[in-house]
Amino acid sequence: MENRILLIKDGLLLQHPYIVLMVLLLSLIIMDPFEMSPVGGHDFRPVKNEIASYKQVMESWLWDNRSRLGQGNLEFKDDIFGPESLEFDALGRGPYAGLADGRIVRWMGEDVGWETFALVTPTWSEEVCAKGVDSTTYKQWKMESKCGRPLGLRFDKKSGNLYIADAYYGLLVVGPEGGIATPLVTHDVDGNPILFANDLDIHTNGSIFFTDTSKKYNRVDHFFILLEGETSGRLLRYDPPTKTVHVVLEGLAFPNGLQFSKDQSFLLFTETTNCRIMKYFLKGPKTGTTEVVINLPGFPDNVRINEKGEFWVAIDCCRTRAQEVFVHNPWIRSVYFRLPLPMRYLARFVGMRMYTMISLVNEEGEILDVLEDKNGDVMKLVSEVKEENGKLWIGTVAHNHIATLPYPLEAPNL
Ligand SMILES: *[C@@H]1O[C@H](CO)[C@@H](O)[C@H](O)[C@H]1NC(C)=O
Ligand SMILES: *[C@@H]1O[C@H](CO)[C@@H](O)[C@H](O)[C@H]1NC(C)=O
Repeated sequence: MENRILLIKDGLLLQHPYIVLMVLLLSLIIMDPFEMSPVGGHDFRPVKNEIASYKQVMESWLWDNRSRLGQGNLEFKDDIFGPESLEFDALGRGPYAGLADGRIVRWMGEDVGWETFALVTPTWSEEVCAKGVDSTTYKQWKMESKCGRPLGLRFDKKSGNLYIADAYYGLLVVGPEGGIATPLVTHDVDGNPILFANDLDIHTNGSIFFTDTSKKYNRVDHFFILLEGETSGRLLRYDPPTKTVHVVLEGLAFPNGLQFSKDQSFLLFTETTNCRIMKYFLKGPKTGTTEVVINLPGFPDNVRINEKGEFWVAIDCCRTRAQEVFVHNPWIRSVYFRLPLPMRYLARFVGMRMYTMISLVNEEGEILDVLEDKNGDVMKLVSEVKEENGKLWIGTVAHNHIATLPYPLEAPNL
């Protein structure tokens, strides 16, 4: 028996040396013993995702052929570092912004400029955390878990308290005067630490809903959540009267931005990996169920409501054909991302070219407007769009500025 196997092996090696070599090479790549690939050192297990057809989404989308987002203004250049979420208080002061160096700052007008408003940890220090323009580069990544990374900001307009979703420190709150924020939720129902709190919204009854993007990867490793397609993300709820945390939804693929509707009969959340916005019903016959509101041509981040009850979503655009093949075939991702090449090359070969798009949708997921910045004239990565006093304020997690644009535009397109 053993001899026969050896014979077959010998025969195979002699007759098909290239195949054997390929198999060997492939196994070496897959096992990646020297951890040379971008996923080296991670328990990388790609899964299949549920995503709308590329062709259908791209064909039915409304494109902004005039690239009107390029008309925006870049403000506070190199004064403000990776402002992901932007917020205004009940007195209209702001913007407040959560920065890559862990601070929450607020704009106090030309004379005063930016001032530090709040910190998510008492151990924050200027020497360790404040890296200026370098705060948005990999140099900061080692420091993030120490310094904090506030990603979602919301004022409770009644109390004046600011609620914060911090990627490392969970859900926190700070009073109207600012200072060191008080942690509300650092662990989930099972007592495990929250790994990646991302965004939040406040219900009028006081409960706070927030997204916990992954149980497996933290923010620094967020790219792996996308590549792997893992679905350990959750929607959680914190009830202040009982100081308890509850799982509202689980099994989500990169849950990210979160927004209640105007009448709070439902909330919207983005699922970044699946390129879509989901609706979760809080009232009526569909209470407790979810449905897809709209499929997007790219990867959504935060969603924010305007005064009319419409929703702005920030999108890193676009999906590609190659990405669709990857999404449907986990094994290809298993092999591809174990190639011993830097991630930026691997990403480029798949045809990922990111530019910024923002879109306004209504409660039914109908597109009301789309603004693109195809050439990256103004910004390249967008994280949130906040419409305030006739102006769009646009945040970015990876660059050092805020973009603004008067809205509605004088020359509408669609
Ligand atoms: C924008 O361009 C696309 C493709 O070039 C085209 O199909 C579409 O009709 C254009 N839309 C508008 C509003 O001009
Ligand atoms: C507030 O309302 C939400 C949505 O209906 C509900 O899930 C939550 O339990 C309520 N919180 C409190 C404290 O009653």
